[in-house]
Amino acid sequence: MTVSRTQLESPYMEWAKLHSAAPVNLATSAVAAFPLAELPLKMEDLALNVHGSYGYPPLQERLAQYAGVDPECVVAAPGTSMANYLAMAATFEPGDDVLFERPTYEPMLSTARFLGAEIHRFERRAEEGFRVDPEEIRRRITPRTRLIVLANLHNPTSALTSEDDLRAIGEIARQVGARVLVDEVYLEGLYARRPPVACRLGPEFITTSSLTKAFGLGGLRCGWILAEPSLARRIWRIRDLHDVNSAHPAERISVVVFDHLDRLASRAQSLLEANRPLVHRFLDEHPEMATLRPEFGTVLALRAPGGDADAFCTHLRERYETSVVPGRFFDMPDSFRLGIGDDTAALREGLARLAAAVRDFSNRDA
Ligand SMILES: Cc1ncc(COP(=O)(O)O)c(C=O)c1O
Repeated sequence: MTVSRTQLESPYMEWAKLHSAAPVNLATSAVAAFPLAELPLKMEDLALNVHGSYGYPPLQERLAQYAGVDPECVVAAPGTSMANYLAMAATFEPGDDVLFERPTYEPMLSTARFLGAEIHRFERRAEEGFRVDPEEIRRRITPRTRLIVLANLHNPTSALTSEDDLRAIGEIARQVGARVLVDEVYLEGLYARRPPVACRLGPEFITTSSLTKAFGLGGLRCGWILAEPSLARRIWRIRDLHDVNSAHPAERISVVVFDHLDRLASRAQSLLEANRPLVHRFLDEHPEMATLRPEFGTVLALRAPGGDADAFCTHLRERYETSVVPGRFFDMPDSFRLGIGDDTAALREGLARLAAAVRDFSNRDA
């Protein structure tokens, strides 16, 4: 069979790697990087090689315990990005229907296209707080739908999907034999208030996640997939085609991280608790820009003045050396994404520059 790779790139990833850096960077979606030196880690804790198996057992155990699932449901993966790729590769064939939220995080959509999905969309509407409406999914699903994809928390709005809505979506998926992939990388940012992983709601659910966003550990690439055991085994076999093992020093560090996760969580929480009031004050002063006012998460979507986010983002960067993510990467060309997890001083400076940019961008033709 010949498979045509219709989309071979991710416009967002290219932008993030080549164009997002700026003296004031509000484009990042993670909390500020956790300093490795603060981990009680010695050189002797690291090792280069481990006898091959499906996952490093001490890490498998910690991931399973953290997620509240059996270790045989856990597939380790290099970040949520690769976790999403593997989960998709395991759940549909080229030409199958895949039902995607809109707005969405572009690399997930591009991954599905790359794997040959026939993409269908369901809407998350601003006037409904970007909620996932199960009835909308019921209207859009087809007998050929093999996978429904959403992010919880939503990227870019941080909308939370309730367990009731997830259960209703699972029920709809089950009727056509589809699975539900829930990217929970931002859900980790609820810390102690994190609801049960979607994978625990039924065998049709797959959870993907990582330590990237909520703990500031993107460089560790500690990601995972949670799925019912037979699907998890299938995903491990697909991973065999891509990389033999995870980098073992990173697995060792990940184990130490899980053993001290409370410390990382409280550091990240304090940062977000200091930052959120600054963002809320900005929204109070710019109510016309607010879409959702999330109580958790590390990002939010703001409406751009004038409704052309590309033009506003260019102005913000050129005049104020400040970057945010243009909404076109999330199907929201009138908005942009603001990251709120950086150091408080950097966020305060960034919001001041944003306010100034809004002022003179709005007055530019006056
Ligand atoms: C919804 C979503 N999934 C996955 C990722 C990538 O996460 P990771 O660094 O764990 O690969 C991102 C990063 O922006 C994201 O927004």
